[in-house]
Amino acid sequence: MKSTLIFATNNQHKVDEIKKVIGDAFNIITLKEAGIDIDIPEPHDSLEKNASEKSSVIHKLTNQNCFSEDTGLEVDVLNGEPGVKSARYAGEGKNFQDNIDKLLRNLAVKANRNARFRTVISLVLDDKEYFFEGICEGKIIADQKGNNGFGYDPVFIPNGSNKTFAEMEMDEKTIFSHRRKATDKLIQFLKDHGTH
Ligand code: IMP
Repeated sequence: MKSTLIFATNNQHKVDEIKKVIGDAFNIITLKEAGIDIDIPEPHDSLEKNASEKSSVIHKLTNQNCFSEDTGLEVDVLNGEPGVKSARYAGEGKNFQDNIDKLLRNLAVKANRNARFRTVISLVLDDKEYFFEGICEGKIIADQKGNNGFGYDPVFIPNGSNKTFAEMEMDEKTIFSHRRKATDKLIQFLKDHGTH
């Protein structure tokens, strides 16, 4: 029988991207599918701590193996901001567009547009915790392009492409993606660990 892991997120984009990478190697259950309807807080000052908080909340609730991820966009000339605050960059209750607008305003006169997405996965497996990181380097463009994806995808071009993530179909984003790289490490770990 395939191992089951709960993916502790309410973000359907993340579920779609991670399920695409995991395929049918493991049985991934979303919070919704597990019948869990809670907003998990992200109160900490690092991606690692927030990821850890999410997986431990769900582990305590279900006593099942689970994982979560936290992702941030780190912009060099903004000293790594929005980083861990990526979801709430423009303030509580603001949306993806507000966050992009604030980012572009803050970068308006900056020549250095280098940035990276960084994903940290926290896995709780048999009561032990493990971390996996994935990084995608790229740059922030001045005018947003494309309608696919979510978050900052319309202003981020990964190195090695001339399209924003929002101009790519999911298959193409997966080639470059921070989330895919972290998920590859998770899959490899589970296989090495004898989890099928
Ligand atoms: P969190 O991991 O849910 O805290 O995500 C933080 C924020 O980062 C999200 O609300 C998005 O704005 C942004 N984000 C996370 N992953 C991606 C991505 O793959 N593309 C674009 N934006 C992302």
